[in-house]
Amino acid sequence: MNQPNTSLTADAPWVVVKFGGTSVSTRPRWDNIASIAATHREAGKRVLIVVSALSGITDLLKGIGDGCADLPRCMELRETIVARHRMLFGELGLPRRNAIDAWMMRLEHLLADPRRGSGAFDWQAEVLAIGELSSSTLGSMYLNALGLTTHWLDSRDYLQAEALPNQSLWGRWLSASVRVRHDPEIAAELAARGDVFIAQGFIARSGDGKTAVLGRGGSDTSAAYFGAVLKAEAVEIWTDVPGMFSANPRQVPDARLLARLDYAEAQEIATTGAKVLHPRCIHPVRDARVPIRIKDTNRPQLPGTEILWNTQSTTPSIKAISSRKGITLVSMESISMWQQVGFLADVFEAFKRHGLSVDLIGSAETNVTVSLDPSENLLNTDVLARLCVDLEAFCRVKVIAPCAAITLVGRGMRAMLHRLSAVLAEFGALDVHLISQSSNNLNLTFVIDEAVVDTLIPRLHAMLIRAEVMRVDDASVFGPSWRELAEEATSIRQPPWWQRERARLLELATTATPRYVYSLDQVREQARGLLGLGMVDRWHYALKANPHPQILRCLHAEGFAFECVSWNEVLAVRAALPDLPAERILFTPNFAPREEYRAALAAGARVTLDGLHPMLEWGTDFADHDIFLRVDLGIGRGHHDKVRTGGAQSKFGVALDEVETFRSHARRHGARIVGLHAHLGSGILDAQHWRSVHVQLASLAERFNRIEVLDLGGGLGVPSRPDDVPLDLAALGEALAEVKQAYPQFQLWMEPGRYLVAEAGVLLARVTQTKRKGDVHYVGVNAGMNSLIRPALYEAWHEIVNLSRLDAPAGELVQIVGPICESGDVLGNNRRLPACREGDVILIAEAGAYGAVMASRYNLREPAGEVCL
Ligand code: LLP
Repeated sequence: MNQPNTSLTADAPWVVVKFGGTSVSTRPRWDNIASIAATHREAGKRVLIVVSALSGITDLLKGIGDGCADLPRCMELRETIVARHRMLFGELGLPRRNAIDAWMMRLEHLLADPRRGSGAFDWQAEVLAIGELSSSTLGSMYLNALGLTTHWLDSRDYLQAEALPNQSLWGRWLSASVRVRHDPEIAAELAARGDVFIAQGFIARSGDGKTAVLGRGGSDTSAAYFGAVLKAEAVEIWTDVPGMFSANPRQVPDARLLARLDYAEAQEIATTGAKVLHPRCIHPVRDARVPIRIKDTNRPQLPGTEILWNTQSTTPSIKAISSRKGITLVSMESISMWQQVGFLADVFEAFKRHGLSVDLIGSAETNVTVSLDPSENLLNTDVLARLCVDLEAFCRVKVIAPCAAITLVGRGMRAMLHRLSAVLAEFGALDVHLISQSSNNLNLTFVIDEAVVDTLIPRLHAMLIRAEVMRVDDASVFGPSWRELAEEATSIRQPPWWQRERARLLELATTATPRYVYSLDQVREQARGLLGLGMVDRWHYALKANPHPQILRCLHAEGFAFECVSWNEVLAVRAALPDLPAERILFTPNFAPREEYRAALAAGARVTLDGLHPMLEWGTDFADHDIFLRVDLGIGRGHHDKVRTGGAQSKFGVALDEVETFRSHARRHGARIVGLHAHLGSGILDAQHWRSVHVQLASLAERFNRIEVLDLGGGLGVPSRPDDVPLDLAALGEALAEVKQAYPQFQLWMEPGRYLVAEAGVLLARVTQTKRKGDVHYVGVNAGMNSLIRPALYEAWHEIVNLSRLDAPAGELVQIVGPICESGDVLGNNRRLPACREGDVILIAEAGAYGAVMASRYNLREPAGEVCL
């Protein structure tokens, strides 16, 4: 990295750049941070980098805070945290580990702290802070190693939390606020020290000199605080999306990128649904008039969204339509309230007493209805029940839930009402519980039943454009649509790892073909993507997809447990990982013989039963054991009929109407059902699928007494054809989070196979012969259906390239076939490859899952071998 040797003047402008968890979890991501910081520095700016904890770490630390009484569990979580940091340390190739070990040691001391037992809030704040302190330490060491001189700052020395009136103890320590103003002295002090700095998001100093954390969205807020203190030229929030949109792009693919917003509009959009930016972070920069830019890490060339003081556009226009689910309405009815002094004061006092913040309010002579937003409230049925009891003293109370709030946001709302007739007509057909028009004239909100929202929003968005109240022709405000950006992104999708490794693969092919080659780096990247979701309490790797011992060890190091479907798979895991505790093995066989269940129980593995027979006939084997029950939710999903595992036509799981019979036999034998499991199929790309499984299992689990775990199975797909839309991990995280909020009592487990390994594997083969018959051209290779059966069995599509001639122009359409005596022995139909010659190396992509493991010796041909990079 080239450090410019011209030094900056003391008054050089500042830029604050913020990076979240996934952006700080791998070496390529840190290289990206380095290049963004260096670009600003080269342009004559001083740079402050603000970082979150590595993805998933805050959840693990929160797990320690929540489970503080259970020391062994806390120690286990600490081990995972240490392992994750050491692993990144290794990946970054850093020489001395002391600095990072010091934070891990600090965490150990915190576990020995007497405050742990009671889970004191100040102790929890210190535990949580370890995540950012560690990631910033790792980052500063790496940036310096790259040659970009970077100074590490402790955010607590600059950000002082303030106590707010009516603030709970929880809020004081775990959702703190900081009052900031431009402080030229701090800017000058730092300018005297250097040009590039790194500091932690999320943490601040409490009034008594201890540590407090800022709550949700904390790192964005820290960046905004620093932007205000330094009166930066801009605060850049680097994230994985292109910016804020005129609607949630997952609901409305035609939603338009909002290129420019003013603070008030951005605040409304952030508060009423968009999750790109936490609403809290706008206020500090607005007061200091520092612009915020939202930038896409994967596509830095896109303009993103800029939020600043007054934009040029003065004509009233709706900028966005947003929605929030999970809203609870409390309707209070009383005849005596009319003109009664103090009625509202009494009512709101009750909300205050229960720590509930009221969002929207509608009032009539005899009724007041208010809404409670779950993101601002610790809402649970207990709190609501207690609130209702208190309110009954003044009025009749009705709780209406689950509702959703749909909000139109735009400056000058009241001047646009006459153009909203089509939109209002749409609401006419629904049960609208509450309408609220904000007094700042920026929003109009409708509260309706939650169930209709997902289909309603796209319709309303289209109507707003048609009625010209959303003025999408104004290019200073509205950018391209999500759909256009997604199409552009697919066309520039990151090149696969095997293109970078072409020379090495060609070299490997000289020693032996056919051969599977696996990239462990790619396995790790996929694993970290999943771990980064944070929502899942335990990830298992379904090793049926690929039981290569190096892959098992790699995923174990990432923190995965294992799901096995045969006793031999259990033996394979134990051979690869002799020290693996048995409880990290989940045994989920189907129609297996009795001995396998017995062996698994004796070994101490967790066992899932998926039929009545084992419990009916061999019930005594399960006496006194904790077991899981696999249920059949009645439908299957997946990329092909043969991989769908639901409904009467599929042999898996216990039908819902037999669950009670299963339970009574389990009870009779003293077996405890502690987990429910469902897996509906394989190769699913729709993130909402797991929400539906999650909800169904959770509601079923409520009928049992002691269910602890819901296992949503695997099935996470990877795109194979060029037009497949990849599984949206962020959407999966959001979907799971929503259900988990409703059923926090259940742990969540998942067991993907394909997602972790498919893209990490390629099959290398050599051209043996070519042939032409009429118009049909055949390219024969030395790998056949005995090495990769997926195309023959499931009509699976694998990308195929001529690796020897990767850059040559594509030629005629060919059929790529193997040497097996079956006409189904075709690896790819109608592919366009450069003219192939005998000896060329052909690469069949995305073959890491269900490839080698499904191979056979049919025709007595040895299937492809395997090697890991
Ligand atoms: N859990 C259970 C209970 C399963 O049956 C399976 C896969 C998984 C998890 C992992 O599913 P995954 O995440 O890998 O989709 N040979 C087929 C796939 C068969 C999947 C069998 N069960 C193929 O090549 O597409």
